[in-house]
Amino acid sequence: MNVFEQFESEVRLYSRIFPTVFTRAKGACLFDEHDRRFIDFLSGAGSLNYGHNNPQFKHAVLRYLEEDGITQSLDLATSAKRQFIERFRSVILETRALDYKLQFTGPTGANGIEAALKLARKITNRSNIIAFTGAFHGLSAGALSITANTFYRNESYVSRSNVSFLPFDGYLDKFDSIEYVRKAISDPCSGVDLPAAVILETVQADGGINVASVEWLRSIEDLCREYGILLIVDEIQVGNGRTGTYFSFERAGIRPDLVVLSKSVSGLGLPMTLVLIRPEWDRWSPGEHTGTFRGNNLAFVAAAEAICYWQDDQLSQSIVRLGQLVATSLGNLASRYPKVRPRCRGLGLIWGLEIDDPKVAIDIRENAFQRGLIVELCGARDNVVKILPPLTIEESVLREGLTILESAFEQVLDHVTTIASG
Ligand SMILES: Cc1ncc(COP(=O)(O)O)c(C=O)c1O
Repeated sequence: MNVFEQFESEVRLYSRIFPTVFTRAKGACLFDEHDRRFIDFLSGAGSLNYGHNNPQFKHAVLRYLEEDGITQSLDLATSAKRQFIERFRSVILETRALDYKLQFTGPTGANGIEAALKLARKITNRSNIIAFTGAFHGLSAGALSITANTFYRNESYVSRSNVSFLPFDGYLDKFDSIEYVRKAISDPCSGVDLPAAVILETVQADGGINVASVEWLRSIEDLCREYGILLIVDEIQVGNGRTGTYFSFERAGIRPDLVVLSKSVSGLGLPMTLVLIRPEWDRWSPGEHTGTFRGNNLAFVAAAEAICYWQDDQLSQSIVRLGQLVATSLGNLASRYPKVRPRCRGLGLIWGLEIDDPKVAIDIRENAFQRGLIVELCGARDNVVKILPPLTIEESVLREGLTILESAFEQVLDHVTTIASG
């Protein structure tokens, strides 16, 4: 690890948390240079929903390279992009009776967010944006302005103007946040300017696995329609099947004006971001939002393969079934340690176990890593253990990972309880 410690910036994070050098990965497992196997419950923070080196995607990319397929093309028309667009339209959009134009932005999720914010502001000629407590939308300037966690924000490099943060669903127990949002929008004395857009994650991932209810999502959409506000859904982490359906907003039957997809859209972990725009809102002028890498053809090739998973509902059914295994395992843990009040929540294959004490969560992550499981934390104080396995994980590997997590949890909590009672 010396090279990283000596020469890589202090900003590095995961190599500190999981201090070993990884060499290869397959399916739901990573291997380090000592050939130690680690089960992956992090999945590249949601960018490896189909696992590592999915053979179907990998072979398509290798074939494309072998045939000297074009790799970098700015936004020229390429056969790889055409194949992706055609499949995305027929398999993903038309089967859901959705109609969107596709904008390929720079490859990071944050760049897709920047594009969506700019477009919403251009369309409405308004600048305010409503974002929510717990939101995470990325760390470039515009995306950071609508990201809630003060760990990332700093008065000196992000403007707090033109953004109003309002309470997400369930932010306060028994508090009707919809009524508050309605009042804030309609009351000229609320201090909240009529926004260009409301932006939300249907399940806040980095914010601590906060699942918005169907009713809440529908009410937000109704409010947007009533006041002529655009609805932007950030599907970067919980889209691409993570919650059990291709789009996480499907369960609520809502129709966002703009949708941002990234991370797993390319399937193989190759960088690619996509903004879906309702046709009537495609008000861009040619070249108005560009980016050198807005046409990653290797990503298009892999992404066209990834779409094949959605030609039937087999993957969806499997996600729901595997998600129930995770829920049962976390539920059992929570009921065994009532003193530390672990709270379990999630949907599909994104789950969190919240513990009051962040130190305990860190110890669980560390203990799990020693046992061969990579699992991350999220939430306001990094006190939620976040379970994010590949959607294609084999049931036996998922069970093995859950057993490791249970052992880590037991060892850390038994230790904490002994200290507390001793
Ligand atoms: C919901 C959400 N939005 C935006 C982003 C930013 O994406 P990127 O890190 O690719 O810029 C992330 C990244 O984790 C995310 O989870």
